[in-house]
Amino acid sequence: MNCPIGFFDSGFGGLTILKEVVKIMPEYDYVYLGDNARAPYGSRSFESVYEYTLECVKKLFEMNCELVILACNTASAKALRTIQQKDLPVLAPNKRVLGVIRPTAEVIGKYSTSNSVGIMATTGTVHSESYVIEINKFFPETKVIQQACPMLVPLIENNEINNEGADYFIKKYCNELLKQNTSIDTVLLGCTHYPLIRDQIKEHLPSHIQVISQGEIIANSLKDYLKRHKQMDDQITKQKRIAFFTTDSTELFDQHALKFYGESIQSSPLKFH
Ligand code: DGL
Repeated sequence: MNCPIGFFDSGFGGLTILKEVVKIMPEYDYVYLGDNARAPYGSRSFESVYEYTLECVKKLFEMNCELVILACNTASAKALRTIQQKDLPVLAPNKRVLGVIRPTAEVIGKYSTSNSVGIMATTGTVHSESYVIEINKFFPETKVIQQACPMLVPLIENNEINNEGADYFIKKYCNELLKQNTSIDTVLLGCTHYPLIRDQIKEHLPSHIQVISQGEIIANSLKDYLKRHKQMDDQITKQKRIAFFTTDSTELFDQHALKFYGESIQSSPLKFH
């Protein structure tokens, strides 16, 4: 039987997280589901993000996943809590759904010596205040300064990252972030897409500011979680199988996936109705 770890994202972005997870846990089986037909989620309402995310989580449960990771900041910010508290106890009390915001919040404060962390993320993630709330639980002294960057996902998905237009917006968002607080010494890329433009973001920030991607953080945290939850770990099959599903065109997914995942993949279609 195949009992993989489920990875969900609105589209391609979660691949930047899965890539890091597979690097340090190559023996596990994984199934990735990208809801490309309804992406991006970043500017959608709470209700839509919750409804779409829950539908995808249910699909991953049907595919035999005992553990599902919402490898999407927007879904983690807007849907995770309700799924964990309201849906899981009724749907599947023994299964687990985890997000990417809490594990990032648990460690990000350690990176900052000035106790000022900047977050670049989608509008949805920023408005949810999830990073502010979660980081303050672990690092009450740390100031969290947020910057919504709504143009970055479309620019990345349209292959415009090396053009002047992208540069204009990256610079604008970096400046707006720093204008809010000049003691920021750490910037977290709180969106799965931004690791693809990490170098450009670094260029527009003073050199003493560290720019942190969350893939490695999530990978280490998942490894640690499975070490601490042996019963869950025992259920997950470990035959190095990885399957990719998309709710939109597989051809498009496979083309873009290369950028996000770093190697070519072959996805399969998944339809809800
Ligand atoms: N995966 C989303 C996130 O990390 C970005 C893409 C989207 O807006 O759907 O917030």
